[in-house]
Amino acid sequence: MENNKKIILTGDRPTGKMHIGHYFGSLQNRVKLQDEYEQYILIADVQALTDNFNNPEKVRNSIKQVCMDYLACGIDSEKTTICVQSMIPEIAELTVFYSNLVTVARLERNPTVKTEISQKKELFGNNGESITYGFLGYPVSQAADITSFGAHIVPAGEDQEPLVEQTREIVRKFNSIYGDTLIEPEIMLSKTPRIKGLDGNAKMGKSLGNAIYLSDSEDEILKKVMAAVTDKTKIKKDDKANPEICMVGYYHNLFNLENKECVFSECREGRRGCVNCKKELAKKINEYLLPIRNKRKYYEEHPEIVDKILIEGTLKARNRAKYTMSKVKKAMHIDYFDEK
Ligand code: TRP
Ligand code: SF4
Repeated sequence: MENNKKIILTGDRPTGKMHIGHYFGSLQNRVKLQDEYEQYILIADVQALTDNFNNPEKVRNSIKQVCMDYLACGIDSEKTTICVQSMIPEIAELTVFYSNLVTVARLERNPTVKTEISQKKELFGNNGESITYGFLGYPVSQAADITSFGAHIVPAGEDQEPLVEQTREIVRKFNSIYGDTLIEPEIMLSKTPRIKGLDGNAKMGKSLGNAIYLSDSEDEILKKVMAAVTDKTKIKKDDKANPEICMVGYYHNLFNLENKECVFSECREGRRGCVNCKKELAKKINEYLLPIRNKRKYYEEHPEIVDKILIEGTLKARNRAKYTMSKVKKAMHIDYFDEK
């Protein structure tokens, strides 16, 4: 609106603190993007509640934690608008109107939803009783998130691609029925590979207990690294091993790239003990995270600053959403009480 930068939107479900998988997968990228684009970041508490409706406290407590993680990583509230989804009721209102433009069958065919449904069935049994109307409809709500801010671009990983595609379909349908109103967003696919957990699991996650959090202390990180999965064939200090199948080797590759060759050849030649190798890695991770941790500590000690950033960001975002809402109502001829 006020400038000609393109608008980008990303979002996170607030269900806990953020870990280094989030950092390498997305946060680092958002720090770069905020200079080039008008960036919005949505803390999607309404979407988090689709899975956590019985645990609203978890969602509530995570909102500030996630915001502190953003700020600690270098997301700058002067450049990026950080906002809370439930405090922007226009998003919910748009969701209702969009829900008429999507069939249930299409939602059930959405690959991301499909995967999540089969995961739920595994957890809760195969009767489909666990699938709520709200859960099935969250892609519609995400379409409302994206379009309410007029986002041109959604930077995201592959798992979000079907959601952006669904948004594009809703936009095309809306525009074809009510006239050209909404912006059709594009995905900016992130190229960074997913970071594995310390246990070797392909995914890092809180529920898996294998994550290194941006807010972890030095001791916590040392403890986690000491417990990481290594090449199990290596028992004695001078046994030869394969760093390619060792999670410590994998993380040296991420946090200690300049010494990686040396670490790997010493490991292969049996000149490196696992205990020292792990201590060295923990030190490197701690060095890397130190500025983030310090910045985070500052915000932990100044919660009023975090509140202010969230309130002001949400206010600004809401104004943008109100603007979209008025255009939508006009296009749909449901602006009954507006002056002609
Ligand atoms: N579905 C996203 C996730 O699980 C979170 C999200 C909600 C989002 N609304 C969004 C992402 C809008 C991009 C744009 O990570
Ligand atoms: Fe892994 Fe290091 Fe042990 Fe090699 S020496 S197996 S890289 S922990």
